Amino acid sequence: MGYQKFVGTALVPIFLLLLSLPCKAQLSTTFYDTTCPTALAIINASVVAAVQNNGRNAALLIRLLFHDCFVQVMIFIPPCSVFGSHTLGQAQCVRFRERAYNATNIDPAFATTLRANCPQTPPNGDGNLEPLDLQTPNIFDNNYFENLVASRGLLISDQALFDGGSSDSIVTEYVNNPGTFDSDFAAAMVKMSEITPLTGKEEQFMGTDENKD
Ligand code: HEM
Repeated sequence: MGYQKFVGTALVPIFLLLLSLPCKAQLSTTFYDTTCPTALAIINASVVAAVQNNGRNAALLIRLLFHDCFVQVMIFIPPCSVFGSHTLGQAQCVRFRERAYNATNIDPAFATTLRANCPQTPPNGDGNLEPLDLQTPNIFDNNYFENLVASRGLLISDQALFDGGSSDSIVTEYVNNPGTFDSDFAAAMVKMSEITPLTGKEEQFMGTDENKD
């Protein structure tokens, strides 16, 4: 699928969802219907322009919604489909160094590739980037799950989805049936957008380095 087609068919609806339902059910998608009827069209055009300017903006926008909802996403949404967001975007060496050098559940050739771009001793190369989906880093598809089956997940938390546990069967299902992943992901994003964000003292944070997403 060409990049332009990808932006037009797959991402724009997601962005409209993210921008119009930002994590709070009491906000309304029709709020600007009277005062600014072209609001969604303007947002659509702006998002398309931003992604054309820099493909990584797609990943950053999806991640933005997740940041607003993090704790409750992990509680309320089955996480496999939302992890599929890692079909886009990149991670820094500081986030995948441990896996590149010490993991046993990693494809050796993949580990060698990662090590070439991520020196073993920090802080050398801490900010060096690798795609979360090494096959098609700028396309929203199910190759992220194919990577996991081949032990080529970039992050420890990615590979944990396919490592002999209960989520293996879901990963396999998404590999074999991309349509199932698409519909599960869309449903999960809608559900995530309806979660009320925690604020102030209610807010919680995850502890490990890798979880500092
Ligand atoms: C326990 C759950 C998750 C963990 C531990 C996690 C961890 C990470 C880490 C470590 C990175 C790389 C950050 C960096 O190196 O700067 C990343 C990137 C990213 N994450 Fe997650 N993530 C999780 C769930 C999610 C979810 C639910 C979404 C979206 C719905 C998401 C979307 C993204 C995207 C799009 C990127 C790429 C951002 C970029 O290119 O800058 N992640 N994640």
